[in-house]
Amino acid sequence: MQTVRFIDLFCGIGGFRYAIEAVASKVGVSAECVLSSDIDLHCQKAYAANFGEAPAGDIHSIEANSIPDHDILLAGFPCQPFSIIGHRKGFEDARGTLFFEIARIIEAKKPKAFVLENVKLLVGHNDGKTLARILEVLSNLGYQTDCMVLNALDFGLPQKRERLFIVGSRDLGTFEWPKGEVPMKPLHEILEATVPKEYYASDYIRERRLAEHPPTKEPTIWHENKSGHISVYPYSCALRAGASYNYLLVNGERRLTPREMLRLQGFPDTFRIVCNYSQTRKQVGNSLPVPVAEAVLLKVFCSRGWTNGSISDFVYSGKQPLYQQMKLLDTVHYYDEKTKAKNGRKVPSSISAK
Ligand SMILES: C[S@@+](CC[C@H](N)C(=O)[O-])C[C@H]1O[C@@H](n2cnc3c(N)ncnc32)[C@H](O)[C@@H]1O
Repeated sequence: MQTVRFIDLFCGIGGFRYAIEAVASKVGVSAECVLSSDIDLHCQKAYAANFGEAPAGDIHSIEANSIPDHDILLAGFPCQPFSIIGHRKGFEDARGTLFFEIARIIEAKKPKAFVLENVKLLVGHNDGKTLARILEVLSNLGYQTDCMVLNALDFGLPQKRERLFIVGSRDLGTFEWPKGEVPMKPLHEILEATVPKEYYASDYIRERRLAEHPPTKEPTIWHENKSGHISVYPYSCALRAGASYNYLLVNGERRLTPREMLRLQGFPDTFRIVCNYSQTRKQVGNSLPVPVAEAVLLKVFCSRGWTNGSISDFVYSGKQPLYQQMKLLDTVHYYDEKTKAKNGRKVPSSISAK
């Protein structure tokens, strides 16, 4: 059996690793991780508990020549320097230079391909100059690149999470971006049936939410933006590592559990949660939507011929883009006036379409 060797940089809790292992098993090849690295001790602990190996630490201290040869480099590099949450300093911020650590390893090891992931904001950062510089560096290393913003909502997850993917190879050949078009898993399949009391917001917070929006019968996630405005959706807005604890509230009343957050990112329920709530919340908020990475990697594998020959592009065919479906749902549904008590609150008794 063919083996695709990979390195998992800025590995976090292994979102990319789940994705590449799933793709390899789909296309009938084996995937072997020859290096993982993350500076965060809690991430290292979670990764070790789930993949049986402790990642190396700070990327700066990894000698490129000590890294085993590999076919593909995977890296969801830190987004703080580019994101809206950071200070918009880009490469002037020391963390911004972490991209150059990736470039250093690509230059030395010359992998056949790479997939990088970052926040959507990188596209427009510094009038597009930051991304242009990144692509220029990769091009100077002899790689053809392509990049695309993909939304987890289009890949079956009930989470609106737009992320930039950059794919590179000496010759991109037949590579094309996955279209998504995967029907969304409904929220009720993500939410846990019994949730401990400590996840519930205070009466004060719940009342403030209800003053802004009536309760819904179908499960919803209530999102509070920076100016305090509440929006209610049948999916989650992007999980964020550093957001306030009341940024997302299920049905306007409780926080997401660690398992629910992991499911919103597409992690399997076999993922072992070994860190506390706040660390796991940070890890999941920093992670990437696994099915999106999987769809991108499937296209990379197919375009490079890393398959046992029998693969067809069977996974992503089909239907109306989900994000559009959800927009429709938002506008055409209304709630019946009759209410019944649920969890001590009145909720509409039915949901119907106009
Ligand atoms: C955006 S997260 C990537 C998460 C990962 N893709 C996943 O699926 O969980 C970036 C990661 O880079 C790690 N990191 C930051 N600086 C680092 C450094 N100097 N060396 C190694 N890892 C670093 C952080 O600890 C964090 O886990």
